[in-house]
Amino acid sequence: MATTHTHEAAVPVAGRIHRFTYAIRNIVAEAKRVEAQGTRVRYLNIGDPIAFGFQTPPHLIAAVERAMRDGHNGYGPSVGIVEAREAVAAEFTSRGFPVSPDRAFITAGTSEAIDLALAAIVDDDGEVLVPMPTYPLYTAVLAKLGARARYYHCDPARGWAPDVAELRGLVTADTRAIVVIDPNNPTGASYSTETRRALLDIADAHGLVVLADEVYGDLGYDGPVPSIGSLDPDAAIISFSSMSKAYLAPGWRTGWMGVGRSPRLNDVVAAIAKLADARLCSTLPMQYACAAALTGDRSHQVAFREALRERATLTSDSLNAIPGISCVTPIAGFYAMPQVALPPGTTDEEYVLALLRATGVLCVYGSGFGMPAADGFMRVVFLASPDDLREIYQLVADFTRDYLHA
Ligand SMILES: Cc1ncc(COP(=O)(O)O)c(C=O)c1O
Repeated sequence: MATTHTHEAAVPVAGRIHRFTYAIRNIVAEAKRVEAQGTRVRYLNIGDPIAFGFQTPPHLIAAVERAMRDGHNGYGPSVGIVEAREAVAAEFTSRGFPVSPDRAFITAGTSEAIDLALAAIVDDDGEVLVPMPTYPLYTAVLAKLGARARYYHCDPARGWAPDVAELRGLVTADTRAIVVIDPNNPTGASYSTETRRALLDIADAHGLVVLADEVYGDLGYDGPVPSIGSLDPDAAIISFSSMSKAYLAPGWRTGWMGVGRSPRLNDVVAAIAKLADARLCSTLPMQYACAAALTGDRSHQVAFREALRERATLTSDSLNAIPGISCVTPIAGFYAMPQVALPPGTTDEEYVLALLRATGVLCVYGSGFGMPAADGFMRVVFLASPDDLREIYQLVADFTRDYLHA
């Protein structure tokens, strides 16, 4: 006999969900519909090198396999295993940003490190300065915390450098931190020493923490990019990175953060440790690959950087050749942020969805990264093979010609 229930109304979702968006994955629902109708979809929406044939270095897989066979399948310390923390601390220190092992945390990717750091330092109603465009996890986590993001612009006319003067004017009594994503997703930029110093000066003048997202730090085409912390090892900086990009293991969900030696951050270290306790630990066997990654053979990165440089040039050359599209050439990572001169009244989302439906090419609209929808930006992930990219950009060219002249 069926049970009768007292309530039939849908369970209401929390108000914060309406403020929470993550366009990079949200847009996949429409791509699935397009695919179901028989169109081949080219997924240029997510920065996963594995999806495009790049391979996790075998010595890292061996380290994880060994850890599992050796029985490291239980919970680990919430802050991370000692070997991994020591390797992370040594890595930051060798990049000029001294971090001691007791201020290194192993996390479920950079993503969880961002979540923990923001939760540890930003109260409800606190503000954080976030770049525009931004990697959208920052604004999503701030929405979840009930805190506010204030955007500072990065300017494509200046290689996507942050507008430092504007940023200075955005600081209020509620501001707690500045997010600096360098090298940058979604723009492919990396900042000059002068810009980095200016960001550190503003943070210092107002007592702000610099949240340095350096997950693409090894993927500068001319070689690894120094940590911003190397410019001032005593500044209040927390730096993030992970195995996801430069070590080609995004599915392992293994990352880390290093909290700088500034005594101003001592309470934050304790707060992060307290939060980390409640989620027990990050995936344990994968932590055994951290030391293998950071102290072992990195030759795969040389080949990866060269592959990315070739794709970056191909991307900006191909897109700049399309009437109505302009694109700053990336200098690091695997993203570009071209702009389409949209007809007045059209949004970036309309263009991106029309492109998807007509060609199967899936990019993410710029407003998903905080850009004004009328400005016509979109993010392209250029990890596909050069031949595939040539085909894809031809599809974009044919579609855009018709779209702009309809
Ligand atoms: C700037 C930036 N930060 C953080 C992340 C999250 O990376 P992880 O896989 O380490 O959580 C990404 C992933 O694309 C990213 O681009």
